[in-house]
Amino acid sequence: MLNNIKNKIASLGSELVYRLALLKHAPNLPALEEGDRIIINALKRDGVYVTTLAELGLNSTSDLLKTAYNQLSQMENANNDHLDKKWPQIYTVTDLSEISTWGREKRLLNIIENYIGLPITFHGVHLRKDFKSENQFGTLLWHSDAEDRRIIKIFVYLNDVEEKTGPFEYIPRSLTSLFSWNYWRIYYKLLKSSYLGINDEEVKEVIPKSAWKSCIGPAGTVIIVDTKKTFHHGTIRTEDRSALFFCYTANPPERPELCTQYWDDTYPKMELREQVENSR
Ligand SMILES: [Fe+2]
Repeated sequence: MLNNIKNKIASLGSELVYRLALLKHAPNLPALEEGDRIIINALKRDGVYVTTLAELGLNSTSDLLKTAYNQLSQMENANNDHLDKKWPQIYTVTDLSEISTWGREKRLLNIIENYIGLPITFHGVHLRKDFKSENQFGTLLWHSDAEDRRIIKIFVYLNDVEEKTGPFEYIPRSLTSLFSWNYWRIYYKLLKSSYLGINDEEVKEVIPKSAWKSCIGPAGTVIIVDTKKTFHHGTIRTEDRSALFFCYTANPPERPELCTQYWDDTYPKMELREQVENSR
């Protein structure tokens, strides 16, 4: 009981510190390019903004794509046909400058800092292949991420994504706003799952499927999302899906131990194909 009270006081204290830091940093936020305010507004309203690499038009896009497809072609065969649960195949590609340079484009960082409201850090990039699955498990279950109070993840689809490819799906923030009845119902279910995630049937009891938003789109589709504030998941699929996942939080994040996976040895790292060939 005493510990509970102590924890509550500590979390209220840290929330207050966080709110003050937001106020203090507000005058220092970088200027946005014309039109980018739309992205911030969509993130605040829905939690998600969907665009394309072509629309963003960042200078390093062609290098990003060339390297990403090179690396994708080098991914080992997962040999998982016999498994019921085919866990995603993830490589850390943060050290590949052609990929990280895109993630560090100043315009992108400015947009993210304006949304997060504090100095930010770019943790890194995963190249990820999600396999076909008939059942919901792992990130196919509905969940929210835990690295920080506000997290921006940018997903770049590397193949066309339709219903059968298992698009990213989310519930607009306005339907689960803090202190709403839906918010508490969803998060109670999540708590009961030990934060591992809940399935479609459980979510339907709170938010009708007609309100869920599915992000289908061609290769090169870019999804910018606050994965903390937005309840989300990957959908079950009959075809594999490949994508890049970029991760950003405030600096420092609330849970730094959850962010190391983007640069440490949690997942294997890939060398550049040219480097491999040159070393032969
Ligand atoms: Fe997630």
